[in-house]
Amino acid sequence: MWSRALRTKILAGYPVIMQSANHPPSQEHPRESFDRSAHIYDDHVGFNQAGAQRLIGALPERDYRDLLDVACGTGFATMHMIERRGIRTVTGVDASAGMLEQFRGKLERHPDIEATLRVADVVAMGVPPASMDLVLCTMALHWFPDRQLAITEMAKTLRPGGILGILAPGPGHDAQFVALSREGNPPILPELATSVLDNEIAPEVMGGYLAAAGLEEIDMWVERRERRVPPERYMDRMRTVGSHLWAHRSIEDQQRQLARAEAALEALSPDGIFQYTFTKLLVIARAPQG
Ligand SMILES: C[S@@+](CC[C@H](N)C(=O)[O-])C[C@H]1O[C@@H](n2cnc3c(N)ncnc32)[C@H](O)[C@@H]1O
Repeated sequence: MWSRALRTKILAGYPVIMQSANHPPSQEHPRESFDRSAHIYDDHVGFNQAGAQRLIGALPERDYRDLLDVACGTGFATMHMIERRGIRTVTGVDASAGMLEQFRGKLERHPDIEATLRVADVVAMGVPPASMDLVLCTMALHWFPDRQLAITEMAKTLRPGGILGILAPGPGHDAQFVALSREGNPPILPELATSVLDNEIAPEVMGGYLAAAGLEEIDMWVERRERRVPPERYMDRMRTVGSHLWAHRSIEDQQRQLARAEAALEALSPDGIFQYTFTKLLVIARAPQG
């Protein structure tokens, strides 16, 4: 009988590409943010968890035995899927070893699941072709330098008729922060505002990625919510997911920029609540039956 430690392996050594093509070379890889924030990640991105749950709730009814979670982070999409039913094996791939450590702790509650967690880049996952019933990629596609290649690589791992589920930032996400940043003189944390805009994925663009990867689009929809949160909670989320964007600045400059952002958010929140647009793109696609 395998020990739990053997069942839940963390494999390292797969190539992790160090720099996104979308960001200037002075900036860090996104995984640096997630390594820093892995221990608090789940507390600061609760709305993403709710989005992953809605995506999983909308998957077609069928048996799902083998699951690949791409850029799985702390693994909450997988954990929801395990609670839903039927999953026997889980492969989690992420560039951040820190995020995978958090995931590994959660998997210990499920010794019946055979899990492999691997530090790897999305374009070099080391997953055999046509081996998965379900591939999930939640709140990560926007960080990949080549989104088309990433979706094509995910599609290759699906068995005929296998399902791909994606949760991504949709059009207009965090638009109020972008406006606030650009109204500053000089602009406040402009690299964050630029990244927010770069990260948006429009449904028609997503449709093109799916078609080029040979996948059939089953369902795609945009969810738009006006969220109300205290400014400090809003900035907690930004720091959790985006600190790599401003890491090239000196520590003093980072503190100055973050203080300016917080002061501008507070000025827009007279009752202590910042209202902003939170837009998600949810996608379900299927591999051809063969
Ligand atoms: C916002 S987190 C999302 C994590 C998880 N899927 C969730 O829904 O919470 C983005 C994740 O993408 C990972 N990541 C970023 N670029 C990557 C790449 N090129 N290859 C693999 N993982 C990557 C980060 O390390 C991070 O864990």
